[in-house]
Amino acid sequence: MSNLSVNHLIAIKDLQPEDIHLILNTADNFKEVLSRPIKKVPTLRDITIANIFFENSTRTRISFELAEKRLSADTINFAASSSSVKKGETLIDTVNNILAMKVDMVVMRHQSPGAPVLLSKHIKANIVNAGDGTHEHPTQALLDAYSIMEKLGEKQGKRLSDLKGVKVAIIGDILHSRVAGSNIHALKMLGADVTLCGPPTLMPKHIESMGVRVSYNLKETLEWCEVANVLRIQLERQDIKFFPSLREYSLYYGINRELLDSLSKKIVIMHPGPINRGVELTSDVADSKQSIILQQVENGVAVRMAVLYLLAGRLD
Ligand code: CP
Repeated sequence: MSNLSVNHLIAIKDLQPEDIHLILNTADNFKEVLSRPIKKVPTLRDITIANIFFENSTRTRISFELAEKRLSADTINFAASSSSVKKGETLIDTVNNILAMKVDMVVMRHQSPGAPVLLSKHIKANIVNAGDGTHEHPTQALLDAYSIMEKLGEKQGKRLSDLKGVKVAIIGDILHSRVAGSNIHALKMLGADVTLCGPPTLMPKHIESMGVRVSYNLKETLEWCEVANVLRIQLERQDIKFFPSLREYSLYYGINRELLDSLSKKIVIMHPGPINRGVELTSDVADSKQSIILQQVENGVAVRMAVLYLLAGRLD
């Protein structure tokens, strides 16, 4: 397979396993570029990319912008909070006006699930979903999968080529998490065994139909898994109380040093960020040698370079 089967990266569930392998193999090449003294290639020199963010972001926005700059693309950054969206302009009018200035690709984060797919039906540009509400965050799932393959392949001196039989737990606020949705699709396509763990009120009904196990017991789940991807409690998406207090949440579903040390083996700790320190993870876990949280961020640039490069190959 020499290019992607899609013109847009909106959801992992739209991809074939071959697409995922192609993106991750391409990311290997860009990771090598990023290790050079001059971390830049002229690959997207003729391409202009708009980063359109309607919701707050630190990692994803900076990572895409850096990926674009490393590929020599021209970039423009749009923050809804300081734009004419505040005067009532629609999403499609906003993006069409940006595209009138000869933009080729749009990276968009939006609070509404489905906003990127709506855009893809109305505009002529490749769309990359940088997170749409509770729906999907495809590049986060790709960089998470890449980081697991890299970490578990360390002993053999090379990244694993798939995740067949690897036991991954996704822990926390599954209900509101676009990262969980995208991760489940990507991990299953790569062959991982996935268990979801969190309070019953934060577990979507019938989620087992996605081919995952569900557990409400954190200690048992950590004993089972090799990798724990711990999610942020998304208080901004919770309009009712899903658990009595953050203190109680962290008592039952927070990971601390004592809990990690009580396990029979050393597991890998991941988190997409931003971390609620002391809630999902204590600082001595988040900052420990078992944590690959900053490697996830580092890998995000190479993975996003790969996505942009491959989608640019599908421009009309
Ligand atoms: N992981 C992630 O999406 O972080 P940001 O919200 O900071 O982009």
